[in-house]
Amino acid sequence: MNITTIGVIGSGQMGSGIAQVFAVAGYNVIMHDVEASRVEKGKSSIEKSLTKFVEKGKLSPADRDAAMSRLTGVTSLESLKTADLIIEAATEDLNLKLKIFSALDEFAKPGAILASNTSSLPITTLAQSTNRPEQVIGMHFMNPVPLMKGVEVIRGIQTDDATAQTISTLIAKLGKSEVRSRDVAGFVANRILMPMIREAILALEQQVSSRDHIDRCMVDCCNFPLGPLALADMIGLDTCASIMNVMADGLGSEYYKPPKLLTQMVAEGKLGKKTKKGFYDY
Ligand SMILES: NC(=O)c1ccc[n+]([C@@H]2O[C@H](COP(=O)([O-])OP(=O)(O)OC[C@H]3O[C@@H](n4cnc5c(N)ncnc54)[C@H](O)[C@@H]3O)[C@@H](O)[C@H]2O)c1
Repeated sequence: MNITTIGVIGSGQMGSGIAQVFAVAGYNVIMHDVEASRVEKGKSSIEKSLTKFVEKGKLSPADRDAAMSRLTGVTSLESLKTADLIIEAATEDLNLKLKIFSALDEFAKPGAILASNTSSLPITTLAQSTNRPEQVIGMHFMNPVPLMKGVEVIRGIQTDDATAQTISTLIAKLGKSEVRSRDVAGFVANRILMPMIREAILALEQQVSSRDHIDRCMVDCCNFPLGPLALADMIGLDTCASIMNVMADGLGSEYYKPPKLLTQMVAEGKLGKKTKKGFYDY
């Protein structure tokens, strides 16, 4: 399938990052969110990010402007009817995503592929809310999307070979690397990452060590690029808690449940970088 136009649902940190990489790679991008102010926020974060690439000499000003000109922001799903592939990157909530997928099925053109950037939710279940389960697939980009090379690809039970092949080709064209996972809660990346973040939060909660020493331990003793508490702030503490709950349910073990401290911080609206307050202040 020849893909030229990409729809993106959700213009938060992941949606805007996904929109950015496709626009830079020469695709027309239609980015959707529920409110015009959120779409504008997404567009301005893309512009800021592209300007940083220009300042570092990694992108020319003309290429930045061309990428921005390929990007359209919308608030109606109907505007996505020209898209060949729609990537959903809305909040990590199964009911919300089910509603989005069934609406997308109605508005997307026949044959368009519907992908989800979900971190943990079942692709097969999302696919079942559409009349095109063969063209539904998981495409799990990593944060920050413009810098991270890996993309997890998750086939639902009914995803067909043509869809999987189209997505593989597209990931290669973006210069990214495909990692395959079965459709199991948390896939591969979060199956390994979330228990580590969870243990870091428990270590803080149980006063094993301080925030700074827990993070420094993983950076200086284990050579991680950043500590797990800083990483949790970057992912979003609400997103981490949702993923842990999905993994606890999906894998049938309380072991994966969010620690009390995380649940409490989310209830207080401390969601990490996006609200400027989390384990750190921003
Ligand atoms: N944050 C990460 O590090 C990360 C990494 C990989 C995947 N993900 C996944 O990406 C998805 C988005 O995460 P995020 O970090 O960008 O969250 P975010 O909170 O930054 O953005 C979510 C966006 O979705 C929008 N939204 C909510 N309901 C919507 C609807 N009905 N229609 C359209 N837009 C809607 C919100 O307005 C918001 O702008 C989640 O599924 C998450 O699990 C996140």
